[in-house]
Amino acid sequence: MKLALSLLSADFGKLRAEAIEVESQVDYFHIDVMDGHFVPNLTIGPPVVNSLRRGLSRPLDIHLMIDHPVTYAPQFDVYADDFIIFHIEAQDDPDKVIDIIAATGAGVGISLRPATPISTLRPYLNQVDLVLVMTVEPGFGNQQIVDNATERIAELSSLISKDSSNAVIAVDGGVNKNNINSLVRAGAEMIVVGSAIFSAPNRRAAIEELIAAV
Ligand code: DX5
Ligand code: ZN
Repeated sequence: MKLALSLLSADFGKLRAEAIEVESQVDYFHIDVMDGHFVPNLTIGPPVVNSLRRGLSRPLDIHLMIDHPVTYAPQFDVYADDFIIFHIEAQDDPDKVIDIIAATGAGVGISLRPATPISTLRPYLNQVDLVLVMTVEPGFGNQQIVDNATERIAELSSLISKDSSNAVIAVDGGVNKNNINSLVRAGAEMIVVGSAIFSAPNRRAAIEELIAAV
């Protein structure tokens, strides 16, 4: 299992310091990019992400919750071990977005809202490197995980095997030490966690507890 720390619940005034504090314990930093249209929240974009990237030694997964990934994906300075993740519900044509992200050199990720059927991903499973299953409605951290999270991960896992895809299964939203094990058992390989770490009195201990729970 790979652990990705969502920086959405960090103090944005000291974003890099907050990330570096726990860098040795996590595999990825997960960055939530929101445009105020695709989701009812606004966060940060390429200028902030690019300068943050230069100061970190862990790769990024850049989660684009925006309507026009074709326009913005090329503006991120990325490396081969980073991922840029777009939503299948975004307005741009998924095939075009996949090509644009692939051209950046980063891994290509696709994500979907909790209400979008897993089967809608099928045409893209052999074209992406990662699938991010949203287990809360995108837009905000610190929400409760949806009831059918493990079923959706298991359904995706079986489609991935059936289609001989190499896509990594990632899960994002509402993960904590009580549900992480069932998500991994269902097939999740990368786990995104935000508030369960940032709201803990001792973040290092909180990460250790998450890892120990699996
Ligand atoms: C929600 C974001 C998630 C979120 C995860 O729109 O995509 O990455 O920050 O945070 P927690 O772990 O607090 O649900
Ligand atoms: Zn996210």
